[in-house]
Parts: sequence; structure tokens; C-alpha cells
Amino acid sequence: MVKVDLSGASDFFIEGGPDYAAAAEAHRILAGRTGAGSDFTGWLDLPKRMRDGELKSIVAAAQNIRRQGQALLVVGTGGSYLGARAAIELLRTPSHNQMPGETEVYFLGNSLSPDSINELCTVLGDKDFSVNVISKSGGTLEPALGFRVAKSLLERKYGRNTAKKRIYVTTDANKGTLHDYALGEGYEMFTVPDDVGGRFSVLSAVGLLPMAAAGIDVEAVIAAAIDEMSALSVQSPENPAWQYAAARQNLYRGGKSIEILACYEPAFRFMAEWWKQLFGESEGKNGIGIYPASVEFNADLHSMGQYIQDGPRTLMETVVRLRGARTKCQVPFEMGDPDKLNYLAGKEFFDIQEIAANAVRQAHLTGGVPNMTVTAEARDEAGFAALVCFFEMACAISAYISGVNPFNQPGVEEYKKNMFRQLKGE
Ligand code: PA5
Repeated sequence: MVKVDLSGASDFFIEGGPDYAAAAEAHRILAGRTGAGSDFTGWLDLPKRMRDGELKSIVAAAQNIRRQGQALLVVGTGGSYLGARAAIELLRTPSHNQMPGETEVYFLGNSLSPDSINELCTVLGDKDFSVNVISKSGGTLEPALGFRVAKSLLERKYGRNTAKKRIYVTTDANKGTLHDYALGEGYEMFTVPDDVGGRFSVLSAVGLLPMAAAGIDVEAVIAAAIDEMSALSVQSPENPAWQYAAARQNLYRGGKSIEILACYEPAFRFMAEWWKQLFGESEGKNGIGIYPASVEFNADLHSMGQYIQDGPRTLMETVVRLRGARTKCQVPFEMGDPDKLNYLAGKEFFDIQEIAANAVRQAHLTGGVPNMTVTAEARDEAGFAALVCFFEMACAISAYISGVNPFNQPGVEEYKKNMFRQLKGE
């Protein structure tokens, strides 16, 4: 289970600190499925349902994809791609596609940039590949157009009938354009459960199929997520999801309207993108909501560090720490000490990073930025599952504390209406 340390936030709390009575009430309506948007709380028992349901066929399809070629092209946007990309970067590496012997995973359908689409077509070039198109609604323009491109590439390479065997569709079980299309073509299909919204769907086929194709042990992810969801169901101020949710809402009421999520591990970058969608789309409505932003330390200490230290005091900082590193790396000794750094020779980079992180925390606290620290055990399947379950639970509780429906996204529809009207020349 992740641990939350609020010691760096306590000096900034208002009104006697985090409101655990509000967290208790939020958790009660979430677990009782009586709050706003309760039709979309299926993620609470999603790991168990996956274990007892689609998990085996996902693993089998992933093996097929790995046998079929060098690469998988994932077509999806928002909650239909960020979780998988986050998992692959965190659990494999951001350089996954350059690693020898790995099934490469590429992403299409999250932009309308001709340059980026053409670049991807060039990269796929002579590679044998399969396609996993993911869209819960089945009607989102960016992935729908991306799928047209992907399908025509496949058909040019393999012909229409063989191409069909390389197309895997993840969508609603019963309805939608993509659902009907896939059924008509006879593509292999996986389900986005009806009661799970896009940004809460990473532990369904949406995330698990691309993750398994990339070689991630999705059975271990699901086993850990079952334990984690059960640990997070405890209704107590000891629950880390309560602590984080109640603390950030308290800081928000005290004027900290922007939360920056920081991590010292570059492989965490897309976890932060996933987190931003989760919290931004769930909480930013009715004119309120903490603005979720992210930084990557140490790199951003040399760019955003100035603003964090010295800009408007509207920031709170949540630092995700992963215990230990997977590998060791020591500072080399240099004869003659030309750069005067031999006092660090032989030291582990991880230990230097720990010292840097402590120094940053102290500096930011002095600068008036409250610090919350979230610690996960390790950069592995269990650590990933723990972070996903923790942030999902905390997000729903936090949104309910603030009085909004965590599970809708009415604001996203506005641009779509305009875009479709203009595309149709209306
Ligand atoms: O969280 C959400 O519901 C959204 O961000 C969706 O994931 C995103 O808009 C993609 O939608 P769809 O899967 O229907 O194409």
C-alpha cells in the first residue's frame, strides 16, 4: 500500500487541518454507490472482475500479438491510451521500443497532426504489426480517424482478410459505432465495462492488452490491485486515500489552487500525464477544482524550479517517491579531479538523488510550497497497481469532498459540438 506523508503540509493547513469527517462521508457515498455519477463506480471492483473475466483472453491475445510481429499500434486517446502508456514507460522503460527483443508499442489517435501520423507510418515501415483500437464511446474523432489510417496501412501490407486477424478492438460490450463496426468485420473484441469511465479504465482491457503485449505481467498487476482496493476500502483516517484527498482539499481552500505532481524518476512522466487527466477531468467543473500540473525532477528544477520557489504562492506539491532503484550506478573516479567532484566518487546516484530530493523539499517548504509525499514500494507491477488504485480512490473522494460529480466530463463535449458542426460545414 502507498504511504502518504503530510508532515510537509501541516504548517499550511487551515481550519484545524484535513476534514476527515468530509472524507468519511465522501467515501461512504462512493462505496455505497449513492453519490453523483454512481453508475460509473465499477472501477471499485474492476480488478476482481478482470481476474474472474477477461484477463485470460487478454493474456492470450497479447501472446498472439507478440507472435504476429514486432510491433503493436495502439489507437486511442485520453483514458483510452494514457494508462497503458504510463504503465509501459514505468514498468518497462521510456525507451521500450529501442530495447532488443521487445514487442514495440506505438500510439496513434491522440492527435490530428499530419506530421506525427506520417512519422509513425514511416517508423512502422517494414515492421510486422498489429493494431489495438480502443474507444469506449466508439465515436471519438481522433482515434476513429487514426484507425482509418492504421487499417489502411494493415490492408496494404497484408490484404483485407489477413489484416482482420491483426485488429483487436476494445470498446463498449453492446453499443457504439466501433462496436457495430467490429462485430460486422469479425474483429477480436474486448470490453470497456459500462460502469467504468475512460480515465478509470486502465485496469480493464483498455490498459491491460497493450501492457501485456509489451511484456508486462498483467496477472501480477491485477492480483496486486485486488489487495490494494481491499486495503483502500477501510473507512478510517489511516486510509492514505483519505489523507491525500482531505489534505489537498484543505490546501485548496487555503488558496493553493495548483497542484504539481513531481517525481525524480523520468520513467514516471506518463504516470503524471495519466494523473493529470484523472484529477483534471474529474474535479475541474462548476467553476472549481485544483489545477493538476506536473514536473519531472531533477530536470525541471532547472526550468520550473524558479517559479516553484519564488512565483505566486498558489502551489502545492505532491512528490511521488519510489523506494530504491532497479539498478546501481556509481560516480566514476577521475584522476586529477579536474571538475572537483572526486568527493562524490564511488557514491551511488540514487543516494545523491535522495539528498537532492531532501534539499528540494526543504527549499520549497521555505518558499511557501506545502509538500505531500506519496511513497510506493517499488517500480514494479505491484507498485504500479498500488499507485493506480490509490490515486483513483483519492480522486473520487476528493471530488466528492469538493461537491462535484467525479465521473462526468460535460466540458469536453463543448469543443466536440463546435468541431463536428464545422467539419460538416453547418
Ligand atoms: O475519461 C474519459 O472518459 C475520457 O477522457 C475518454 O477516455 C476519452 O475522451 C476517450 O474516449 P473514448 O474512449 O470514448 O474514445
